[in-house]
Amino acid sequence: MKPLTAKELKQLYLKFFNEKKHSIISSSSLIPEHDPTVLFTTAGMHPLVPYLMGQPHPQGKRLADCQKCIRTDDIDEVGDPSHLTFFEMLGNWSLGDYWKKEAIEWSYEFLTDKKWLGVDKNKIYISVFKGDGDAPKDEESAKSWQSLGIPKDRIFFFPKKDNWWGPAGKTGPCGPDTEMFIDTGKEPCSKECRPGCSCGKYFEVWNDVFMQYNKTVDGGYEKLKQQNVDTGMGLERTAAILQGKKTVYEIETFLPIGNKIKESANIKNPDEKQELSIRIITDHVKAATFILGDDLGIAPSNLDQGYILRRFIRRSIRHGKLLGIEKEFLTELAKIVIDLHKEDYKELEKNRNFILDELRKEDDKFRKTLETGLRKFEKMVVDNKISGKEAFLLFQSFGFPIEMTEELAREKNIKVDVRGFEAEFKKHQELSRIGAEKRFKGGLGDHSTETTKLHTATHLLNQALREVLGKKDIFQKGSNITPERLRFDFNFDRKLTPEEIKKVEDWVNERIKEELSVKKDEMTVEEAKKKGAQGVFEYKYGEKVFVYTIGNKSIEICGGPHIENTSELGHFKIKKEESIAAGVRRIKAVLE
Ligand code: ALA
Repeated sequence: MKPLTAKELKQLYLKFFNEKKHSIISSSSLIPEHDPTVLFTTAGMHPLVPYLMGQPHPQGKRLADCQKCIRTDDIDEVGDPSHLTFFEMLGNWSLGDYWKKEAIEWSYEFLTDKKWLGVDKNKIYISVFKGDGDAPKDEESAKSWQSLGIPKDRIFFFPKKDNWWGPAGKTGPCGPDTEMFIDTGKEPCSKECRPGCSCGKYFEVWNDVFMQYNKTVDGGYEKLKQQNVDTGMGLERTAAILQGKKTVYEIETFLPIGNKIKESANIKNPDEKQELSIRIITDHVKAATFILGDDLGIAPSNLDQGYILRRFIRRSIRHGKLLGIEKEFLTELAKIVIDLHKEDYKELEKNRNFILDELRKEDDKFRKTLETGLRKFEKMVVDNKISGKEAFLLFQSFGFPIEMTEELAREKNIKVDVRGFEAEFKKHQELSRIGAEKRFKGGLGDHSTETTKLHTATHLLNQALREVLGKKDIFQKGSNITPERLRFDFNFDRKLTPEEIKKVEDWVNERIKEELSVKKDEMTVEEAKKKGAQGVFEYKYGEKVFVYTIGNKSIEICGGPHIENTSELGHFKIKKEESIAAGVRRIKAVLE
């Protein structure tokens, strides 16, 4: 086994799949575009959904990449040897091209061949889908593994819960998968210990998903137009196992962060509790740095991604306090994260000041109330439970995210009335962030006609803002579309006047009246840039992209879909214009 660094592993993986004729594509943003149902990109397949559904990809049918991901579902597992909220995922895709046999053979070759990872094949364990009423037992995958020399007793058949991936939301592409585990050599924890067991004997390193179904709104599974392969290899986990480490926190992209925390806390040999706090801070500060460093400029808030970001930061500050750190310390850690990753993620360096400023501001805000909030909490504990009203007081007056109150309560073995909190919250706020959190489990953005229309209107709005506000450097910071409305975030440092809002509406409505056709072209990112296209930031040199032009009025790099002519749009109306962070405005608009 080669003791590769994460970076070397990434390079080797991409080289391997490039030799197998895969185009290497860039990581997409951590914040999914135009997708109201998920807050973060949770897997490499996420930005590729339209292509898994059958739309042709400009880079062809075989793709490979390293995608930055955030999974808040795993937040309570953070601290164990392998779960992280922010991680990088290596992946290779077949979009209606190769199928199970090739995918499995290549996975095996990359894992075991001495030229690549050189993992001892006797340490490899496999799981495959057992079959149920929705899809048959995956004998084909099992046979492929056997013909490569994996004996039957190391191949396990598991149900959907373990060996089925997707959809990322309620509906969308999904299918059975086959997972690869490496035996760490640890003693089995019990007679039942087998791949998938949480004791840490088997490290899951790679998952090959055979996406041939579309889960529909009624819960059924229909065959997709094409058979796709979607694979995911956790970069940090795999690097840890190659390096013979017991946890991801010991590899070179984490260790310096943990060391700095120990230094700030003046702790040399942390006990178990302290070690957990160190790991939580290490994970969360990386996640926070990457969210802040994303070009979309998300800042801490009580809404959507901003709320998750706030949770990461505040939880880190609280765990810092448990370690005895009473001063702002996250910016020093963020600097380490930026330096560790800036070569692969240029946006981190570009947004360095924003990252550090926002961390400092959030620390300042929270540290002021943390101490009193904690004292208040201690007083509440007396009754052995925290009511919804009390939890809401901690949230509103002391800035304690409900999850933090729950965590504090868990430590004291007491209960929090979360339902009561939600009820209080709803009473006080029109948009529940609990609702926002639930969206992780919601369906992927639908491609209904309404959504598609609003998507085209979003392009027009994007251009209208530059036209009306007379600034070339206004650009999109975020977009979120449901069938009912569009939501568009952009950089601007003051409220728009009613006249400006009216002008923006008029500009869009004039384009609608002009019955402009919407055209889609394929070109390299440099060509797109030369034509003045919006949305060029996250692509690498030479990458092929789709560009949508509306008449000769708007030009943007975009995956689509769009309507064919602006005459289909109806009447454009702005419903709300507000600030969501310093220098970032949000518009909500509808088509009537
Ligand atoms: N989409 C699959 C996963 O995330 C590969 O595991």
